[in-house]
Amino acid sequence: MRKTETIRVNAGRGYDVKIAEGLLADCGEEVAKACPKAKKAAVVCDEHLMLPWCETVCASLYDAGLSCGLLTIRAGEANKTLAQYGRILEFLAEEKISRTDVLVALGGGMTGDMAGFAAATYLRGIDCVQIPTSLLAMVDSSVGGKTAVDLPSGKNLAGAFHQPALVLCDPLVLRTLPESDFSDGMAEVIKYGVLGDPKLFAAVRDCLLARAATPDHSGASVPGVKKSMDRRIAEVIASCVRDKQQIVEMDEFDRGERMKLNLGHTVGHAIELCSGYEISHGRAVAAGLAIICRAAASRGLMPQRDAEEVCELLRLAQLPAETSYSVKELAEAALSDKKLMGGILYLIVPSGIGACGILPVYPEELPAWIEAGL
Ligand SMILES: NC(=O)c1ccc[n+]([C@@H]2O[C@H](COP(=O)([O-])OP(=O)(O)OC[C@H]3O[C@@H](n4cnc5c(N)ncnc54)[C@H](O)[C@@H]3O)[C@@H](O)[C@H]2O)c1
Ligand SMILES: [Zn+2]
Repeated sequence: MRKTETIRVNAGRGYDVKIAEGLLADCGEEVAKACPKAKKAAVVCDEHLMLPWCETVCASLYDAGLSCGLLTIRAGEANKTLAQYGRILEFLAEEKISRTDVLVALGGGMTGDMAGFAAATYLRGIDCVQIPTSLLAMVDSSVGGKTAVDLPSGKNLAGAFHQPALVLCDPLVLRTLPESDFSDGMAEVIKYGVLGDPKLFAAVRDCLLARAATPDHSGASVPGVKKSMDRRIAEVIASCVRDKQQIVEMDEFDRGERMKLNLGHTVGHAIELCSGYEISHGRAVAAGLAIICRAAASRGLMPQRDAEEVCELLRLAQLPAETSYSVKELAEAALSDKKLMGGILYLIVPSGIGACGILPVYPEELPAWIEAGL
């Protein structure tokens, strides 16, 4: 019998996040249970998922009695655009998807965000089942109902809150995820550890330290981050989903507590923007997290030792703890982002590993914060 971890999220109509190895092969049954009125499933699939996993998903939907249409979308953040979002809407219309049918998003955070936004707006909202395939999407973006596309002037500028009907995480899918994309997901995992889950932080550190101490068979190098987390990955995903579930239930619409999930993201988003999205979300968030930890330590708000430990863990996860952009470049990019509310920026500042606060900051104070952390 397969061991399935089910986490209930009481947001929107309420939904389950299921985590189990091999879940993909039974996704049809799960979708049919969660969306009992659906006759059709429209699958939106990232091009990199077509070969390894899409057939399993479509076959399972078909076996569960759901007729299944498939749209492949181009991969990568540069394609999280209004144009591709429009293609998804057109596809839903061509497939004659009705209000009781379901969209299935198969891919990483980019696919989930964009297909989720199409589900939120097509016919003023249809059910969306998220099948996240990257670590980042499993631990973060597939849960909580934030959907969006990027505009030329910034990231996630058009979007909607639309909670999924179901989220299915199958860790076996991570087998085909490239090592560097896996590390990107680790940035969000470490973020959860710092913002409120010291046990998770310690568990990840133990895994990665064990890895650093164990050379592979050739004795030449240590195994990859992905391999070293293999045994623990389902537990790590479940911990992150539980952390996110608690925050989302407290503050579904991101007016208070949920802002804490933006730890590392003020500077992280600025790095993404400065690089023209050449630097991935995970890497940018890692550097952003390191910068805000060092800034908090230099202002006496976080123990120096904790800030050093965060930077050390990021490096162990093969993530950057530095950026080459200047204070001026970062501050300008951060202030052009959508985070100002009523002229105030809300900076998430850690007070140690496992706790953080929300600090209102005037825009003119931001450069000094960044400078303290560079
Ligand atoms: N909605 C939210 O709450 C939220 C939270 C965090 C991040 N995000 C968004 O998530 C996105 C980043 O997510 P991401 O890192 O998953 O990016 P992504 O979707 O671009 O995926 C990264 C790369 O991995 C590939 N890939 C994914 N799964 C694979 C697999 N199993 N096998 C082989 N290749 C695979 C993709 O094709 C892509 O090339 C950003 O757009 C970010 O804004 C949203
Ligand atoms: Zn993020």
